[in-house]
Amino acid sequence: MPRHFLTGTELSRDELLALVDRAIELKAEPLSSRALAGKSVGLIFQKPSTRTRLSFEAGVFELGGHPVILRPDEMQLSRGEPVRDTAYVLSRHVAAFGIRTHADALVEELAAHASVPVFNMLTADHHPCQALADLMTLKEAFGALDGVVLAYVGDGNNVARSLALLGSLAGVKVRVASPKGYQLEPTADAELFEDPSSAVAGAHAVYTDVWVSMGDEETAAARRAALASYRVDDALLDLAAPGAIALHDLPAHPGDEITAEVLYGARQRIWDQAENRRHAQKALLELLLR
Ligand code: CP
Ligand code: NVA
Repeated sequence: MPRHFLTGTELSRDELLALVDRAIELKAEPLSSRALAGKSVGLIFQKPSTRTRLSFEAGVFELGGHPVILRPDEMQLSRGEPVRDTAYVLSRHVAAFGIRTHADALVEELAAHASVPVFNMLTADHHPCQALADLMTLKEAFGALDGVVLAYVGDGNNVARSLALLGSLAGVKVRVASPKGYQLEPTADAELFEDPSSAVAGAHAVYTDVWVSMGDEETAAARRAALASYRVDDALLDLAAPGAIALHDLPAHPGDEITAEVLYGARQRIWDQAENRRHAQKALLELLLR
């Protein structure tokens, strides 16, 4: 059975911690691994992407491999070719493949039929590759993950869920503050809040994400109204622990979920976080293909 990475919880705690350390090593020496020499990796994007595409495409190249980018309008899948057949054919050509799509069920079906590792590059419910880079960024900032308190403020979405799942696996205490109707399910290993100030009090990192995720456009007006007071600004950051950092997976909407002062300010680690996508995913590919 190939190793898949669909929610991230396929990893053991030890594997996750080792992956974060390996990502930090690869950041120091980006061309030190040839784990993908002679191998191709498929990257299927059924939704837009800037960071995920850049970081995977460049990362596969740095590992000595060849990234094959697949857009939906270029695949027979969009003309009705069965998911199972798509998984069979991809498995005959590439050493692993990732997909960014809407339904988690599609990723699960591909993985069920693939004979190579399948990884989730964002679905409606999960964004585990993002959480890997986030944990790496926390480790860089604080030197350890165990006991770090991360407060996520905003929509209880895919990014929040992956942070909760992978954060708790790594020993990070994840708090999530969201308005009623936008809260994460209580099973996701996070402490849930409604009031952003209570969630942020004493936290080491304050994290936010877009108010309107890809696929949620029809409910944009209601979301913007419900989330209007869930903005990460300097006043909210001041409630966190001394030395606290601000994080955002991006793309940002300055003035909505985060102020420009925080996004471009001295306390953010957001641009490091965006870079860390590449290093963390290289460590992931090494692990999946080991
Ligand atoms: N954070 C993230 O996944 O960014 P993209 O949507 O640009 O890939
Ligand atoms: N929650 C956002 C993350 C974008 C990287 C979305 O799913 O659109």
